[in-house]
Amino acid sequence: MEELVALSKRRGFVFQSADIYGGLQGIYDYGPLGVELKNNLKAAWWRAMVYERDDIEGLDAAIITNQKILRYSGHEATFSDPLVDCRNCKSRWRADHLKEAKCPGCGSKDLTEPRPFNLMFKTGIGPVDDGSSFAYLRPETAQAIFTNFKNVVDSTSRRPPFGIAQIGKAFRNEITPRNFVFRVREFEQMELEFFVPPGTDEEWHRTWVEARLDWWVQQGVPRDRLELYYVPEKDLSHYSKATVDVMYRFPHGLEELEGIANRTDFDLGSHSKNQDELSLRAKVMANVDSNTRLAIQDIESKKWVVPYVIEPSAGVDRGVLAVMNEAYRVEKLENGTERIVMGFKPHLAPIKVAVLPLKRNHEGIMNKAVAIKQMLQKLGLGRILFEDTGNIGKGYRRHDEVGTPLCVTVDFDTIEKDDTVTVRDRDSMQQERIAVSGLSAYVTNRIAG
Ligand code: GAP
Repeated sequence: MEELVALSKRRGFVFQSADIYGGLQGIYDYGPLGVELKNNLKAAWWRAMVYERDDIEGLDAAIITNQKILRYSGHEATFSDPLVDCRNCKSRWRADHLKEAKCPGCGSKDLTEPRPFNLMFKTGIGPVDDGSSFAYLRPETAQAIFTNFKNVVDSTSRRPPFGIAQIGKAFRNEITPRNFVFRVREFEQMELEFFVPPGTDEEWHRTWVEARLDWWVQQGVPRDRLELYYVPEKDLSHYSKATVDVMYRFPHGLEELEGIANRTDFDLGSHSKNQDELSLRAKVMANVDSNTRLAIQDIESKKWVVPYVIEPSAGVDRGVLAVMNEAYRVEKLENGTERIVMGFKPHLAPIKVAVLPLKRNHEGIMNKAVAIKQMLQKLGLGRILFEDTGNIGKGYRRHDEVGTPLCVTVDFDTIEKDDTVTVRDRDSMQQERIAVSGLSAYVTNRIAG
């Protein structure tokens, strides 16, 4: 973990937020390479969920959330962690994270009894600051998918089985944020709510677990580094009938990367006016504020059916950490030196191709390198970097360390002899001469193929 944290800062993947003011605990900023990696991971998820399937729609809902949504979702009452105070040093800890009944800070055994601590952030709405008009920062992106269910159904004519996908920020006032971007207070989720006819939910749950495992493998996380954890009934969230967690071997241990829950009709039901069709689970709180029926009417029988929901919910930041951890390797070279390589899958690499002119002060080489950069940029594969530091060897090392799959060097032969460039492969370190006329096709094939 220390090596990843150091590399993240050194190369511009992740920075401690507000570090010039001493930082803000559990909050991180993504740097020039981090933002590319994160965007690429999110784009891969969106591609797999929305573009490559024909049964999922997208959504981008607001972060600031009406209080009532989180009342009826059950979050006001139950979205809490057990908190203990150390009476000696006044620090606070999550009771379920303590290995022994003593303070990890000062070692004192003088701890308070655990009490529930609600994790939701509140924010004031409007100009009157008397505490009466507040909203929440959403603790999961899911709720706005449920509250927009009717809007999406009415505007797209979808019928179950179908899903609504969303990527966005979520906020939790974690008692003890830790392990770099693993447990933070501001993070991003990639969530799918997949609505299915009741009775088909268990089958769909199994289907989604398999689909999500496959997707993580495609992102470069080997199957043997992932485990499935069937959450015991006593530990299930208030909305869940069954949850399977995809666990990954993070540097600090085996922990949850993604949760895949069977939320039944709990959420659509609890945001709806009371209706007979609901299962008992969804009738826990009679909704006196909603006049809406979040259900589907059967065209022939005219009966209303409240779909069940299968929810694969992945953390973007945990995904970035997992992908970086898998990509990181240190190789011993024949000449006795070492190189650090981030072996990202090409579709995730922050920089796809670096274009390096052999000589900085040579106008012909510089112009040609700029033209090649612009040509490759137009392919729409992601970031192509023009880098005129002039030291090719150092450039290759730097790009190994940030995971750039290909480096293209423009030299004298390019402009004086045969209009070819040297293309150097990150993993094999092999170099080959490629004609500039065929370079776009070559690069497209290597990066997107
Ligand atoms: N809508 C369901 C839901 O939010 P969750 O298991 O609480 O379920 C889903 O969260 C995913 O969000 C987790 O598997 C994890 O990847 C990510 N996540 C949750 N809390 C997080 C935190 N404090 N920091 C970073 N990621 C977090």
